[in-house]
Amino acid sequence: MKRNIKGNVSWVGHIDWDLETFHGDDYSIMNGSSQNAYLIEEEKTVLVDTVWAPHRFEFVENLRKAVDLKKIDFIIANHGETDHSGALTALLDEIPGTPVYCTAAAVKSLEGQYGKRGWNFKVVKTGDELDIGNGKKLVFVEMKMLHWPDSMAVFMTGDDILFSNDAFGQHFAVEELFNDKANQCLLMKEALKYYVNILNPFSPLVAKKIEEISGMNLNISMICPSHGVIWRDNPLQIVEKYAQWSKSYQENQITVIYDTMWEGTARLAREIAFELSAAKPDTVVKVFSVSKSDKNEVMTEVFKSKAIVVGSPTVSNDILSSMTGWLAFLKQLKFKNKKAAVFGCYGWSGEGNRILREKLKDAGFEVVDEEIKSLWNPETEDFAKIKDMIARL
Ligand code: FEO
Repeated sequence: MKRNIKGNVSWVGHIDWDLETFHGDDYSIMNGSSQNAYLIEEEKTVLVDTVWAPHRFEFVENLRKAVDLKKIDFIIANHGETDHSGALTALLDEIPGTPVYCTAAAVKSLEGQYGKRGWNFKVVKTGDELDIGNGKKLVFVEMKMLHWPDSMAVFMTGDDILFSNDAFGQHFAVEELFNDKANQCLLMKEALKYYVNILNPFSPLVAKKIEEISGMNLNISMICPSHGVIWRDNPLQIVEKYAQWSKSYQENQITVIYDTMWEGTARLAREIAFELSAAKPDTVVKVFSVSKSDKNEVMTEVFKSKAIVVGSPTVSNDILSSMTGWLAFLKQLKFKNKKAAVFGCYGWSGEGNRILREKLKDAGFEVVDEEIKSLWNPETEDFAKIKDMIARL
């Protein structure tokens, strides 16, 4: 389970082919994932991160086969979240007193999760360095809010490797480890899904951090994130993607998102998509039912869109609960620079469109005035309004 990746650096993580969800059940995993940990064997022996708690004993046993645990001089804990710190308890039971280098916030999160165990924390901040011998050193870079307050990255001089933790990662199992060995379409799809669903709320900080790291002139030759592939072929390609994605990214796409009770709102959704495609032939148009589609995948489509069209029937003076939940998640992701329009059927009170409009504005969308509001089922006069509505998008 020890795989050399460059010089005296090896991958010692866990590939999770069977993982189905992440963050509880909040993030869907379609192509497996990994928790990447790395072993540096210079004059000093350094472990960078560990794995998720359920794999902690297997991790320690594998690590024992890779190196005499007592030879580990330093542990780097780039992030306190349990998918990377979950094996620290088992490991430090074996080698108590080994220095754990992390941010001040990581001490709080590690002690908060695992209790005060007397671990030998060494608090670091951006620019601090650790000599690991053979003329090489580790340079620490705080990555506050990318995506937790405690997040950190480490740059290894000599081999010019950036251990970036969650940044630049993907939930994507690749046994061959490296980006040039992976299916490129799946890799970029998973990298984008990861960015949208985990990092997009912090996009302004991502943009600033990329500028800061670029200003450090680190000459990065390899990026080793804590999930998914290692970027060795043109590693800066993912940094360039993050730079684009962090600046109110959009493509020429409009996405229709709806739920329905008795097919009226679904018929509107289909007709809106048809009219969109007819009126804007160069625009990519996609349609998703929030009840039948994976929410993380749909959010990735929202991210790519310049506008969304959102529909729900009115039910019990409100909108469908599936749509309420979806809109709550939409707000969390803090999308910017996107338009929206609303539609839906009603039979009695008809508050649905107003509620959709309020929630979309609250989520940061510019909602156009034109809308489709159909009493009972959509009729010819309702369909006739679609052209005006989509002309505003
Ligand atoms: Fe991969 Fe924030 O943990």
